[in-house]
Amino acid sequence: MPRDDRVNVIVTGANSGVGFGICQRLISQLVSTSPSDIEDDKLSQLHSQAKQRGIRIILACRSKQRAENAISSLTTYLHSLRNQSQIDICLQYENCDLSTVQSCKAFAETIKRGHSRIASIICNAGGGTFTGIDWIGATLQILSHPIDGVTYPNYKLQSHGSTSADHLGWVFQMNVFGHFVIVQELIPLLEAESIVQPTSILWMSSLEAAKCGYDKDADFDLVKNKRSYEASKYLTEGIAIALDESLHKQGKNVRSIIVHPGVVWSSIFYEHLGAILDLLMAVAFYLARWIGSPHHPISAFLGALSTTYALFNLERVHRDATQRYGTCCDRFGNAYIVKQQPVIEEEKDMMAYARDVLAKCDELYRRF
Ligand SMILES: NC(=O)c1ccc[n+]([C@@H]2O[C@H](COP(=O)([O-])OP(=O)(O)OC[C@H]3O[C@@H](n4cnc5c(N)ncnc54)[C@H](OP(=O)(O)O)[C@@H]3O)[C@@H](O)[C@H]2O)c1
Repeated sequence: MPRDDRVNVIVTGANSGVGFGICQRLISQLVSTSPSDIEDDKLSQLHSQAKQRGIRIILACRSKQRAENAISSLTTYLHSLRNQSQIDICLQYENCDLSTVQSCKAFAETIKRGHSRIASIICNAGGGTFTGIDWIGATLQILSHPIDGVTYPNYKLQSHGSTSADHLGWVFQMNVFGHFVIVQELIPLLEAESIVQPTSILWMSSLEAAKCGYDKDADFDLVKNKRSYEASKYLTEGIAIALDESLHKQGKNVRSIIVHPGVVWSSIFYEHLGAILDLLMAVAFYLARWIGSPHHPISAFLGALSTTYALFNLERVHRDATQRYGTCCDRFGNAYIVKQQPVIEEEKDMMAYARDVLAKCDELYRRF
């Protein structure tokens, strides 16, 4: 694979939902000479570097076919826009299955072989061991607290006990540890780019992030946790914060930042709802937005704002690294950024907790 000087941005799980929305939004911002997601009058370093060197968006996905379909749709989207900025945008697929350490390491090796620098790793891919819906719980929550019911649903049934080929909790490995491995392997490339501009690791969290009885000592990899999806996001936030502190202490110009998209209508729960209920869920999301919920961007393109905001305004966001950046939306569909406290703030000593989970991940990583 030829080495070239493009700005490289990696997006995991880029073939659908929020990840696809991130790629689309990134393209829309890159082609514009006055990108809406950039706060400063003068363009962000990422944007100006991309203008000088061109940019490569690397879609890190487990299915070649799905990634190629996404690249084809993104290429059509790119061609439908007027490329005012004349930035040369290239889209590339690389295989990465987050549920095995071997695949994550192979992915990182491929990246290292082909590229010497990376501007950002967007740790987006994720999911849960969802098995269906507790219909009675859903009815009760939606009738008693309609907006909460479609924002923080407590009726999604999840199985527990599933493990990966590496004998780790499946949700833990896919949502947290797979990304951790990639990040550890590629930090030198982020550092290499950071000589030119600040670089970033963006961790996808969720409004649903919650401790859910998470016991970092007895069940670190969430095998026994009955709400491993929510807890995996809790753990993600801890890792993101502690990693940011650690990188900062080492004098590295690499930021580690938490983002979340609000509520997006994606395929994350589709197989348990089917087409009709999935459509009804979308209707419920729009109703929630119309009656005033700020948490329903619904479209992945809108939900992606917090990610593109962090990516393009890195010089600005780094001062608030212990906050998370979320996407909100008004009832007319105008998305905006909110800064929130991370959920792990509920710990008595948030930083001690965060450092501990980072150290445990690091220890686990060294075993592979
Ligand atoms: N939708 C929301 O409202 C919402 C809210 C908050 C946070 N989020 C977060 O946003 C992220 C994306 O979710 P989404 O809603 O966009 O769901 P989605 O449409 O189901 O997308 C999930 C993506 O992750 C990929 N993925 C799953 N397992 C993987 C693995 N083992 N290795 C590599 N890639 C894998 C999927 O690839 P395949 O197509 O191959 O399965 C897909 O590209 C997740 O981290 C989720 O927690 C979503």
